[in-house]
Amino acid sequence: MLRRPEKTQLLQTVPLFKALSHRQISQIARLGTEIVVGAGTRLATAGEYGRELVIIVEGRATVTVGRRRTVSLGPGDFWGEMSLVDGGPRSATVEAATEMRLLALNEHEFSMLLQTAPLIAIKLMKVLSQRVRNAEASYSV
Ligand code: CMP
Repeated sequence: MLRRPEKTQLLQTVPLFKALSHRQISQIARLGTEIVVGAGTRLATAGEYGRELVIIVEGRATVTVGRRRTVSLGPGDFWGEMSLVDGGPRSATVEAATEMRLLALNEHEFSMLLQTAPLIAIKLMKVLSQRVRNAEASYSV
């Protein structure tokens, strides 16, 4: 487990937090649980309950949407925003493709994150819109 100064330093390298001040990142470093997992770990299962937003600090994950479509996520990417926002079951299965360092935020921590850095909400909406567009495009082929 990293201490707060090291966690702050690490979070400064995460693209999602680019453009935030040192103070904001230091506040974010107080939130969330840091998790280290090995390659092959199942992180979320489609259809199951889950209520965390998980941000990738290091490593890569594979998201399997539907039966076959896979999307690779890397540092600064996140998953879990859909179930957290609408309360529904996980829409896809997520697995660690490599060893990973993650920051998991529960509902309360997520709302603290948005209060600390409202810019993050815009970034989340952009990614969500891209995911919807990609999903639409894959249905039409
Ligand atoms: P959630 O439904 O909570 O859990 C599974 C997660 O996979 C989902 O939130 C998104 O974060 C992610 N996900 C779902 N569909 C896609 C997609 N098309 N591209 C990238 N990530 C996705």
